[in-house]
Amino acid sequence: MFQILDKQDLAPSIKQFVIDAPLVAQKAQPGQFIILRIKEGGERIPLTIADYDAKQGTVTVVFQEVGKTTLELGTLKTGDYLADFVGPLGEGVKFKNHKKVLGIGGGLGVAPLYPKLKILHQQGAYVESIIGAKTADLLIMEQQIKAVSNKTHICTDDGTKGRHGFVTVVLKELLEQGEKYDEIIIIGPPILMKIAAEITKPYGIPTMVSLNPIMVDGTGMCGGCRVTVGGETKFACVDGPAFDGHKVDFDELMKRLQTYKTEETTALHKHKGGNCKCHQQ
Ligand code: FES
Repeated sequence: MFQILDKQDLAPSIKQFVIDAPLVAQKAQPGQFIILRIKEGGERIPLTIADYDAKQGTVTVVFQEVGKTTLELGTLKTGDYLADFVGPLGEGVKFKNHKKVLGIGGGLGVAPLYPKLKILHQQGAYVESIIGAKTADLLIMEQQIKAVSNKTHICTDDGTKGRHGFVTVVLKELLEQGEKYDEIIIIGPPILMKIAAEITKPYGIPTMVSLNPIMVDGTGMCGGCRVTVGGETKFACVDGPAFDGHKVDFDELMKRLQTYKTEETTALHKHKGGNCKCHQQ
């Protein structure tokens, strides 16, 4: 059993848990994820590791209540226990001698971006970040990102905080101004990663994306996270979730995301006792 040591509401429907999981904390690397189950026989859900502390033996996960299981997860409180908390899984990301990097996080993507920027900051790199959300209320982990960045740009789609517009607008400006980076890391909705990777490509800057959103069970068996990278078939949960953004077939990936939508909506509808409007969406 794994205890929830702390629970925070980061935004409406976005929650953060700090979990007592010393063995996972000791081995965790940026980019990896865990699989948890609320109870025996429950659904397995993969969640990105948003932070870890080997000394304290804690692992931080951030999740959005979007489906039946994540809604149930969100009802747990500090002091409650999870049946399973397995990890770290996936390939960890290692950075070599980066002097200057740009990290871009959109929406929930800010959470998996954080451990990567944190390690780059610890390694002495100059870290610039662009984080964004639909609206000010949905912007998460701003203070943590600022703490590991030399410069941070904030964007909201509706202009309620920072720059009015998408994070890609700032990315474009920085590159047009002649800014150079050893690597650009982009994590967010697939459409954001697709557009941002297209912007960086002509500049020849190595661009990393993280495909956490397409993982379903995180075990390498369901096939839900299959993606074509540089013409080869890969599985985000086994071979990733981080990949070369210039090689990912995003159009195929976005089609795949639609695959489970009907089942998810049906499960969510049942969970809400049939009183919701989700079946009409
Ligand atoms: S999430 Fe099921 S195979 Fe990767």
